Amino acid sequence: MLEGLIVLERSGAPLPEQIYRAIGDAARAGRLREGVVLPSSRQMAAGLGISRNSVNAAYELLRADGVIAVRAGAAPQIVARAKLEAAHIEGAGDGLGLSKRGEALARDLRKWTGGRNGGQLEPGAPDEALFPADLWARCLRRVARQKFGPAANYDQVEGLPRLKVALADHLTRHRGVSATADQVIIVPSIQAGLSLVTNCLTDPGDAGFVESPGYFGARTAFAGAQLVTRALEVDDQGANPSALAGSAARLVYVTPSHHYPTGARMNLQRRMDLLDAARREGAIVLEDDYDSEFMWQGRAIAALQGISRGGEVIYLGTTAKSLLPGLRLAYMVVPEDLAVPLRQAQRNLGLRVNIHAQAAYAELIESGALVTHLRRIARTYEERGRLLVQTLRARLGDAIEIAMPMGGLQTVMGLADGTDDAKIAARLAKEGFETPALSSYCAGVKRTGLVVGFADATEKRVGRFADLLEGLIV
Ligand SMILES: Cc1ncc(COP(=O)(O)O)c(C=O)c1O
Repeated sequence: MLEGLIVLERSGAPLPEQIYRAIGDAARAGRLREGVVLPSSRQMAAGLGISRNSVNAAYELLRADGVIAVRAGAAPQIVARAKLEAAHIEGAGDGLGLSKRGEALARDLRKWTGGRNGGQLEPGAPDEALFPADLWARCLRRVARQKFGPAANYDQVEGLPRLKVALADHLTRHRGVSATADQVIIVPSIQAGLSLVTNCLTDPGDAGFVESPGYFGARTAFAGAQLVTRALEVDDQGANPSALAGSAARLVYVTPSHHYPTGARMNLQRRMDLLDAARREGAIVLEDDYDSEFMWQGRAIAALQGISRGGEVIYLGTTAKSLLPGLRLAYMVVPEDLAVPLRQAQRNLGLRVNIHAQAAYAELIESGALVTHLRRIARTYEERGRLLVQTLRARLGDAIEIAMPMGGLQTVMGLADGTDDAKIAARLAKEGFETPALSSYCAGVKRTGLVVGFADATEKRVGRFADLLEGLIV
């Protein structure tokens, strides 16, 4: 069935990319029709005389692009052509003269959820009303009068020394990170940091692992750098690192302290196994600690970076959850030997943050006001999370599975296997709810459910959401 379709050039592009392109192009052109079952990775690898890893990596890319569907225990199947065309147009910008790199950078994985940004109960979006506006205004007023010397011009692009010192201390005390100020780099967002690091540490065709289900931003950064993205399956103990063995991966992205979006916490054994496996493969672990500063159930578990030997973890944090995404203020703690080249690359890419915002944030940290603010929002978000979970449990009973998260701004509402969660998410999106399908977050085995935010949960809103769900799933 695939005879003549895949002709590998040994000296051409990486093998996974060649397979990916051959099957993707054939599916889009209709030469491989909807429902066609592809050979298992073992069969295809034997047929082409290549390693199974290369085929798995190609299947992974095809799955992430929506070209094939992969269900546990079943062979991959070509997806409907109409769906493919939609995904392709949204992603690539064909015919606009984009380079391959440009196409990869312009992909919009988020759109595949069928939702739209800015809807109600959107996961990961904080409540703007909880932003400490008066406090921030006072800090900004003070710092706007200060003189910054070199940082006011083209120096200290990687961050104000004052903020780097304050963050190294704050993260050491509150997140168990092991950092000196020299290891801190201030960036506009975790997304910018992921993109910077991915581009600096990999070449197109290299392998990178993301969690499944997992955060779109990481998949986007990897896709933008033309990595072959593979999946680490996540269960209730967090990401399982066993797939790393023998993968020669360059990067592994994880959210170990509070998995996005399920909320699982990676246990200590898994953490040690992950660090060992990364060391063996020569991979760097990207630890995204996006919302662990305001966990409410017990103390947040210390960062993975703190138990590593220092060379294999890049830690990323952000103010996008604790303050506002629009502030554009995030940070990385990088291994000592990478600090200088990453700083230079940051300067070359122009990923610098406004000095007044940096200084105001340093004031918040130094004065202790940040910690007070974090405690306050943790209490509020806990109440809203409880409202959501209790209401949905009471209204939908056994039709759903939902647990009270340990912190953060979102949770997962599991649905019965076989439910078309994308269809339900699309129907809810029409009613103004941005609660994407869990299956669209899965780079590996599909799981069914909705990812539901609660930062803006009110009784009325959650009640209307439950009314709609009753009509859709019960
Ligand atoms: C897991 C995770 N990391 C990072 C971010 C965003 O951080 P930033 O805005 O700094 O890129 C989000 C936002 O939803 C997220 O869910």
